[in-house]
Amino acid sequence: MANNFPIGLFDSGIGGLSIYNEIKNSIPNESTIYIADNMNAPYGKKTETEIIQLSIKNTQKLVDLGCKLIVVACNTATTNAIEVLRKKFNIPIVGIEPAIKPAMLETKSNNIGVLATEKTLSSNLFLKTSDRFSMGVNIHEQIGFDLVRIIEENGINEELLNPKLKEYIEPMLEKNIDHLVLGCTHYYYLIYLLKKILPNGVKILDSSKAVTKRVEHLLKHYNICSNESKVRNVFLCTGNDQVIKKFLTTSNKISKITI
Ligand code: DGL
Repeated sequence: MANNFPIGLFDSGIGGLSIYNEIKNSIPNESTIYIADNMNAPYGKKTETEIIQLSIKNTQKLVDLGCKLIVVACNTATTNAIEVLRKKFNIPIVGIEPAIKPAMLETKSNNIGVLATEKTLSSNLFLKTSDRFSMGVNIHEQIGFDLVRIIEENGINEELLNPKLKEYIEPMLEKNIDHLVLGCTHYYYLIYLLKKILPNGVKILDSSKAVTKRVEHLLKHYNICSNESKVRNVFLCTGNDQVIKKFLTTSNKISKITI
């Protein structure tokens, strides 16, 4: 029975749609419910306590709506709240973290860059992960100040985003990075702008494929893969739906909720 229940995803806004798209590409027969908590975006500037409270509310809502597995489609919520969520909810929960490990293993210059939100970079989970995998590799961290706010308010506005990206990326290039790890799901939508700034030799890493693999693995592990052909994808938001509409590839309806 639980097999045909939906997978629940949440983010502070449109960023997690990059994860949603990846999941739908790989396992299209799974139904989904996506919450964009855009009234409270950006999460990256909130306190850990606030991020935990919002993450609990989003997860509770998805559980109440009958989800069989939760994807925390937000690095900031994962790195600050996933341990609490896993203790509180008796349901498989998949999170997303910056792909530091593959960057560390692949780097030839021994310098990698990580672009993420303030609260991801300062989280204990990120500190633990980066320490565990540092292996003599220098990690050059940069907070993507304002990027999420601009995307949530204006979509991909190149005029506003380009100068900021240049400001954040150029110091990392001076440090000879050969990998740039995207530590925020919103930044997936900046890849084509970043490619114009980065030299050919710098590889961009994001974690959406790894998260999807983990979701597929857990669905099989718990024997809860969908066996239904009728699929429903529901989109919910807590704030304005205008920008989100532009990021959806289909003409799905978006309903407003309070969490
Ligand atoms: N997409 C969220 C993340 O991956 C954005 C965080 C924010 O709202 O600042 O971290």
